[in-house]
Amino acid sequence: MTPRKIIIDTDPGQDDAVAILLALASPEDIDVLGITCVAGNVPLDLTVRNARIVCELAGKTDVKIFAGCDRPLGRALVTAEHVHGKTGLDGPVLPEPTMPIAEGHAVDFIIDMLREYAPGTVTLCPLGPLTNIATALQKAPDIASRIAKIILMGGGYFEGGNITPAAEFNIYVDPQAADIVFKSGAPIVVMPLDVTHKALVTTARNDAFRNIGSPVGIAVAEMTEFFERFDKEKYGSEGAPLHDPCVTAYLIRPDLFKGRHINVEIETESELTMGMTVADWWGVTDRAPNATFMGDLDADGFFTLLTERLARL
Ligand code: RIB
Ligand code: CA
Repeated sequence: MTPRKIIIDTDPGQDDAVAILLALASPEDIDVLGITCVAGNVPLDLTVRNARIVCELAGKTDVKIFAGCDRPLGRALVTAEHVHGKTGLDGPVLPEPTMPIAEGHAVDFIIDMLREYAPGTVTLCPLGPLTNIATALQKAPDIASRIAKIILMGGGYFEGGNITPAAEFNIYVDPQAADIVFKSGAPIVVMPLDVTHKALVTTARNDAFRNIGSPVGIAVAEMTEFFERFDKEKYGSEGAPLHDPCVTAYLIRPDLFKGRHINVEIETESELTMGMTVADWWGVTDRAPNATFMGDLDADGFFTLLTERLARL
C-alpha cells in the first residue's frame, strides 16, 4: 500500500512528540509532507522549537516545519505548562534545534498541499487546537472537499473534560475553530479522551521504551515520566495517557481502534460548557453524523506497535 500523505498540525507537547516520532518511524505507511505548528500547550515559538527538536531527535532534519497561528480565532490563548512544563517538552535534556523553519505560514502550506495533490490524497492530522485548520478552511473554502480525512485528537464524551469539567484542552483552547472544522463536511475521525485515557504508559510500558536503549527510546521514557505526574495526581491513573500518538497509530493500524459514526457538535456559547464536544453517541437526535468518534483501543497492540516503530529511529 502506498504511504498516506499527511500534514501533522501540532503543539508539542510530549505526547505530540511521540506521535511525530511514530509517523517519522513509519515511512512505509506515512509520508509526512510537513509539520505545521500552532499555539496550544505552549506559545507558538516554543511549539515550533519543540517540533524541530523532535525531528532532530529522529534524525529527520529534512522535514518541513512551519509556524502557524499564535492565538485562537476568537479567544485569548490558554496554555498547559502545568502539564507539559515551561518549555512544553520538559523531561529529557535535548539540544537546542538548528534545523531550519520553513518559509511561509503554516496555513498557506496546508492550502497549497491540498490544492497541489488530487482531491482525497492529503490527510490532516491535528494534534492541538484547530486554529490552523480552521483558518485554512476560512481562507480557502475549496479545500474542504479535497481533504482525504481529518484524524484529530480532541474532545471527550464519557470521559468529560480535562481542562474544564466539560471540555478537553485542544477543543477548549479554540472552540470556534473546532466548530468550523466539524461543520466543514470533511471526513473526520476523532480520538477523544474516551480512547486516549486507555493508552496509559504503565511502568512496564515505559520500561519497554527505555529498554530500546536508543536516544529516542530514552527520551520518550523521560518525556512520559515528566508528563504522567499530572494525570496520575488528577485521575490516579497508572501512567501518562498518550493522547496524540493515537492519531498516527490509527493511520498505521486502524483495527486497533473502535468507535461510532455519530454527530458531534461544539459548544461555542456557554462559558460553563465552552469547548464541549456534544457527541450524540446514543443517536438521540436527528442531527446528521459528521465524525467517527473513537471509544475503545487495543492498548497492548498500540504499545507493541509504538515500541517496535520507535526502535527503528
Ligand atoms: O487534551 C490533550 C491534548 O491537549 C493533547 O493533544 C495534548 O498534547 C494537548 O495538546
Ligand atoms: Ca497536542
